[in-house]
Amino acid sequence: MKAAYEKPAILRLETGYLNKFGNSPMYSRKVRSQIDAVTIDELVERFGSPLFVFSERTLRRKYREVHEAFATRYPHVVQAWSYKTNYLKAICAVFHEEGALAEVVSPFEYEKARALGIPGRDIIFNGPHKPMAALRRAVEEGAQIHVDHLDEIQDLEQLAAELGTQIPIGIRLNMDTGIHPQWTRFGLNLDSGQALDAVKRIHAKGRLVVTGLHAHIGTFILDPEAYRRETEKMVQFANLLQERFGYTIEYLDVGGGFPSKSRLKGTYLPPEVAVPHIDAYAEAITDALYANLAPGVFPRLILETGRALVDEAGFLVTTVVATKRLADGRRGYVADAGLNDLFTSFWYRFTIETDREVQGMNEPAMVNGPLCMNIDVIDEGTLLPPLRRGTRLVISPVGAYNVTQWMQFIEYRPAVVLVGEDGSVELIREREDLSDIERRERLPARLHRP
Ligand SMILES: Cc1ncc(COP(=O)(O)O)c(C=O)c1O
Repeated sequence: MKAAYEKPAILRLETGYLNKFGNSPMYSRKVRSQIDAVTIDELVERFGSPLFVFSERTLRRKYREVHEAFATRYPHVVQAWSYKTNYLKAICAVFHEEGALAEVVSPFEYEKARALGIPGRDIIFNGPHKPMAALRRAVEEGAQIHVDHLDEIQDLEQLAAELGTQIPIGIRLNMDTGIHPQWTRFGLNLDSGQALDAVKRIHAKGRLVVTGLHAHIGTFILDPEAYRRETEKMVQFANLLQERFGYTIEYLDVGGGFPSKSRLKGTYLPPEVAVPHIDAYAEAITDALYANLAPGVFPRLILETGRALVDEAGFLVTTVVATKRLADGRRGYVADAGLNDLFTSFWYRFTIETDREVQGMNEPAMVNGPLCMNIDVIDEGTLLPPLRRGTRLVISPVGAYNVTQWMQFIEYRPAVVLVGEDGSVELIREREDLSDIERRERLPARLHRP
């Protein structure tokens, strides 16, 4: 095939640009023509562009990988799917089918779990804002409530009095595990004695019973040792509660935060090198359990893994709608998806692949989305061969936090499909249209056009 003519570009020679394997990045290519054997062509033809695509095979593989890492080391492991990470019904249903409980942080997420058929007893209710009506429902339905602050303790005590019952609760703790900034705005601080004071108060009132401890130390935590410190502190606190108050801690919920194979902006090493295997986390946590638990005591170990389960299962297919030469000499591409669909591009640098081989030398290129805003940047300087209008790009991993934090701003939100284990492709969220956006709007009669 005759190579297409490409206007030559003069590029500054960058010393040190060769990688340590001696390959020039100027010609290395990242091509992804299919997702689980379904071609990008077929996906775009059937569902349009942009398009979020999820791999069911990867969802299930990741779930089982995490489960195996922990369940081979500890006898009593439970996973709770973190709804906020991705609460599309189909995604949640896959994880529930694998055995996950639901971890929710708002009345909305609670309702979502219930509407999917998850009974209250299989819901963990976290979060700093649980309105009274939501708390009441959660108590009545037997959900596991993790208290975040003293006001909530008071609300629960009031509910317990009204219902004439004792309510079992978990306490969310925050603590120094070496990860900074510390997420101290959630829960009660362990190191300062705040959590212990709260338990003294709970015990004195006698309306609530502490049956669990919870912590979530952050997200994308690259150091397994932080979990060792977290687990040690939690078990030691559980031991203290047993000794001082007679509370038997039935479960320790260590939260989520395990990293996916994504690249946090500003990190030098690629994720394959920088991100420890889940086994390293399982080892640190279960080691700390065995070192600190009383002999023969095995409380349930709960994990609220979010991004590590779903991120790599998600892809965004987008199309180049315009090509430019920017004033500083870089190539510029306008894609039909941007920050509106990829909220996490603020923090993470994605892998950008073309759906087919493209001839020509790579050049540093800026990839922008369709918004009329300067911050709509998918990548400021990725190496791409010269792309033509209409080229499809596959961006990954994007399964975590994007289809929950995406914005309806300027553009409609795209369709989402699930590629099943058998290669079937099913629509799991339709592309939006005007009726979705205007459904809640009201135009005063006096402003109607005649
Ligand atoms: C309480 C709680 N649990 C679990 C998660 C999931 O975290 P990740 O996606 O980092 O695993 C979050 C995320 O913010 C959270 O707030």
